[in-house]
Amino acid sequence: MIGISPLFETAPPPRTPQQTVPAPRLEIRDLTRAFAGRGVVSGVSLKVMPGQVTCLLGPSGCGKSTTLRIIAGVDRQDAGGVYVDGAPISEAGLHMPPEERGIGLMFQDFALFPHLDVARNVGFGLKGPKAEIRARVESLLDKVGMRRHIDRYPHELSGGEQQRVALARALAPSPRILLMDEPFSGLDDRLRDDIRDETLAVLKAEGTAVLLVTHEPAEAMRMADEIALMRDGRVVQYGAPYNIYNAPTDREAAAFFSDINVIEGTVQGALCDTPFGDFLTPGLPDGTEVEIVIRPQHLKIDFDRQGRGPNPTTREGTPAAGTVERARFLGASSLVEFRMDHDGEILRASVPSVFLPKPGTRLWLMMRRDRCFVFPKRRAG
Ligand SMILES: Nc1ncnc2c1ncn2[C@@H]1O[C@H](COP(=O)(O)OP(=O)(O)O)[C@@H](O)[C@H]1O
Ligand SMILES: [Mg+2]
Repeated sequence: MIGISPLFETAPPPRTPQQTVPAPRLEIRDLTRAFAGRGVVSGVSLKVMPGQVTCLLGPSGCGKSTTLRIIAGVDRQDAGGVYVDGAPISEAGLHMPPEERGIGLMFQDFALFPHLDVARNVGFGLKGPKAEIRARVESLLDKVGMRRHIDRYPHELSGGEQQRVALARALAPSPRILLMDEPFSGLDDRLRDDIRDETLAVLKAEGTAVLLVTHEPAEAMRMADEIALMRDGRVVQYGAPYNIYNAPTDREAAAFFSDINVIEGTVQGALCDTPFGDFLTPGLPDGTEVEIVIRPQHLKIDFDRQGRGPNPTTREGTPAAGTVERARFLGASSLVEFRMDHDGEILRASVPSVFLPKPGTRLWLMMRRDRCFVFPKRRAG
């Protein structure tokens, strides 16, 4: 990674020698699974600490659900292991049945039992004295804000309400680990944000270790303590949302989270010369083709000088000139498309929506140096 401040690295917390490191609540090591000779999960490893939410994030078909099914025990890996509190529950020669794993599941098509009311849906499968079960059910329904609906039937509830009941049901047996597979994808947008936040609060209050699968970056950023970014059956980057977003491992990882601009160049003497000035490319040999990646919100427009040439005292490298091709008002921001003088290519800048320049306006653009990522260009094929 080049061009990102070391401030973004998270240093491990200092430890005194007496402290022992707790085992991860859930750990998977080098999981591999192929279907008909095609590798779908290829050496996936990750950890979830108690009380932590880890998101397995990646495009559709990259192997997320297969990984979850292996952890749940409903599918079986070709190699690798699954460990709970440091003890194996599945590895070579060992396959603990799903119901003995102490792992809760919540999937997209969570089905409540239609013929049972909310209380019996949540209490389903709980063993013990009736009064204790009732107390647990009521306390969970309180947490998810559904206590007043305790006597209703699923068909009397909205989608969001059913979702809350499903969460209470998944948490009722106090699983040490909860696996969630795209649990919010059946809900509409506005409702979804609220339910995500409420769900997160309940999960944190219960102290459950959660592995949440999603293909939506916004959901992962909102929910996760850590994100494992998955592509083609592999974890390509693993870390806190802040680090994954601000220090992507490659162009694709950057592009997964937002629209990006790409400027191409060639390394000469550990520098790449561009219309925006020189960029450092340490460690890359002369002649390496590189891509300089920047998100639209980190392109700066020189509005103050209104196209009257570059400000001579900029600290953002060299400004480059372009003409506004299109500007779209998006509410909180405007998206401005520039056709750049130097190569005729389009660059997109996201600016506060108080700016909505007219097409044909000439302006100067600068790139926030601390927000550029320089990657060697990958050869096709
Ligand atoms: N039982 C199966 N048999 C054959 N192929 C499967 C099976 N389950 C999943 N796959 C394939 O494995 C790939 C990954 O699937 P999946 O883990 O469901 O991806 P994701 O959840 O990331 O969308 C897909 O191409 C899918 O078609
Ligand atoms: Mg899936």
